[in-house]
Parts: sequence; structure tokens; C-alpha cells
Amino acid sequence: MKKIAIIAGDGIGPEVTECSRFLLEKIAKQYSWQFSFEEVLMGHVAIEATGNPLPEETLAACRRSDAILFGAVGHPYYDDNPQLKVRPEQGLLKLRKELGLYANVRPIQVFPELSAASPLKTEIIAGADIVFFRELTGGIYFGQPRERQNNGNTALDTMIYHRYEVERIARKAFEAAMQRQKRLCSVDKANVLESSRLWRETVNQIAEEYPEVSLSHMFVDNAAMQLIKNPKQFDVVLTGNMFGDILTDEASQITGSLGMLPSASLGDSVGLYEPIHGSAPDIAGKKIANPMASMLSAALMLDLTYGEIKAGNQIRRAIQKTLQGGYRTADIADKETPKEKILDTYQITTEILQRLENE
Ligand code: IPM
Ligand code: MG
Repeated sequence: MKKIAIIAGDGIGPEVTECSRFLLEKIAKQYSWQFSFEEVLMGHVAIEATGNPLPEETLAACRRSDAILFGAVGHPYYDDNPQLKVRPEQGLLKLRKELGLYANVRPIQVFPELSAASPLKTEIIAGADIVFFRELTGGIYFGQPRERQNNGNTALDTMIYHRYEVERIARKAFEAAMQRQKRLCSVDKANVLESSRLWRETVNQIAEEYPEVSLSHMFVDNAAMQLIKNPKQFDVVLTGNMFGDILTDEASQITGSLGMLPSASLGDSVGLYEPIHGSAPDIAGKKIANPMASMLSAALMLDLTYGEIKAGNQIRRAIQKTLQGGYRTADIADKETPKEKILDTYQITTEILQRLENE
């Protein structure tokens, strides 16, 4: 029995996650696997129902699962009301922390069929293949103190890293580099920040365990530029929590759309799989969201939690064949895409499921 907790969350989360569930159910049939799905609340929907962005019941369900399939959290109501103390994102941050999901893996791969959808020139992005390792439970996202002072007129966050936090994410990144082109670029701001100097020192020490990997260091401002200037120079990129948040949104544009990018958040037990796009409230409920990032996240789940790489590849191939068939969701359509090939969330899911069958 494969036990999966589903957290659909807010915005387009429920739509895209439902499509991934259809996909997993279909795969389960093909392989005669038993899946048990447990649907639980997090984010704005959880605040509405219980007052808590991460109810105890959700945490408990996640702890008793092998893997979590997650949609998105966030709602414009909170963005417009910065004074609100209870916020949807707190649910996700707490879940990452409680489950010890310190390694956020974000692969950036270009489907050749979509190279025209990228705002970057085809010759720059063709063949780009990067995996980001973003530290996920430390840094400025969690450092204490974080508060208002001076009658609310001063605000403070703390950027903090402990050596063990850098060591464990660095090892994961080096391990991945060993399976790939053996190149690792660690991104920091060591010319300014003490926490980055500890980061760099620690990465250099871990590098001694991996003599075959060629390690480079890059300042984050330069990395932001190099990513769009020459993305092919990167193989594995290792970075801290906030730099990784920013750089991976930027890197999504190499592939054409945020709507295509999966991610895995890993620690020492249960894995969390989610599209890197957020809740996209502007298109929520319109059935036009791209479900492929969520489906590719489900594929990562099969690879990484269950070791079922054949099934993961089957999902990736079904998606690629759908793209080759010319089918697009609105976010990845371009001027040349005929109207009848621009499908909604559920229509494109049907196309993908059909191609899964034909494997
Ligand atoms: C992400 C998101 C989250 C983050 C938000 C929703 C808290 O942007 O997963 O990249 O900043 O980590
Ligand atoms: Mg982000």
C-alpha cells in the first residue's frame, strides 16, 4: 500500500492536484498498485475551516504517509493585509520545518517543444539542464528574532545558518552532481554576509569528500545574471533558502513557464512534492491552469519516494508526447498555436492520460 497525503490548498492547487490524482490512479491500475489517498487542509482553506493554516490533523496525516502531494497556498486577501498575524504561507513553512524537509530539489529542464514559449532566445536555452538544491528549513525564512520594534517602525528578520544545516544540503547536492555531470556551483553572497562565509567554508569542506566533483562558487547577483546569459554553464546549483526561492522563479523562465516545473522537498523521512508555481489566484477556478508541473511532481514522487523510475519516466513521456501533438495550456501557448490546440486543465489531462495508456 502506497500512502499519499494530498494537500490541495488554495487557488489553482485543487484543480492541478486533482489532475495528478487522476494520473496516479491510472498508473496504479497499470501497475496493480494500491494507493491510499488522504485529503487534508492547509493554507487559506484551513484558516477558513479551523483558524489554523496547518491543523494538527493535517500534520498527523502527513506523518503517517510515505509522501505528500501538495498544490499551493496563498490568497490575495492576506497580501493586501500585511498586518494579519495568521497567514496561509505559515502552514507550508511550518510543515517543511516539522517534517525536516531541508532539501528542496528543483529540476529545470527544457522540453524542446516549448523552447518558443521562453522569453529567452532558443539558442541560449536549448539543452539547458539544471538541478537546484535549495536549503529549505533555515536561513532568513526561519531565523530568530523576526519582529517589529520601535513601536512598529522598525522590522527585523534574521539570516542565520548553522554548519550542520549547510553540510547536509551540500552532501545532497554533491551526491546529485555525482549522478550527473559532476559540476556543482554554490551560490552565496560571501562578499557581504557572514552567514554566506560560513556557507562557503562548509561547502569547501564537504567538497573534499567528493574529489570528482568540480566545485565553483558564485555570488548571487552574478548568478542571477549568468542564469539568463548562459544557463548551460550550470549542472547542479546549491544555495540557501531565500536565494534559492528567487533564483528558481527566475530559472523557470528558461523552460518557458512556471507551469512546467515540479519540485521535491526531502529530509530523512516523508517527501513533499509540489509544483513550484504558487496559487495563481488570478486564474483560480477558471480551469485554465497548467497541471503539468503538478504531474511532473507526481513523477518525482514515484522516482524518489518509491524508486519507481520507470513509472516516473512514463509520466514524463506522456507529457512530452502531448506537447509534441501540439497541445498546450494557455500559459505555454504562443502566437503560432492554433486555437483548437489550446486546452483547459481537464482537457489536457485527458490527452496526457491517453498517452500514458499507449506507452
Ligand atoms: C516557494 C514559495 C514559498 C517560499 C512561499 C509560498 C512561502 O514561493 O515554494 O518557492 O517562499 O518558499
Ligand atoms: Mg517561491
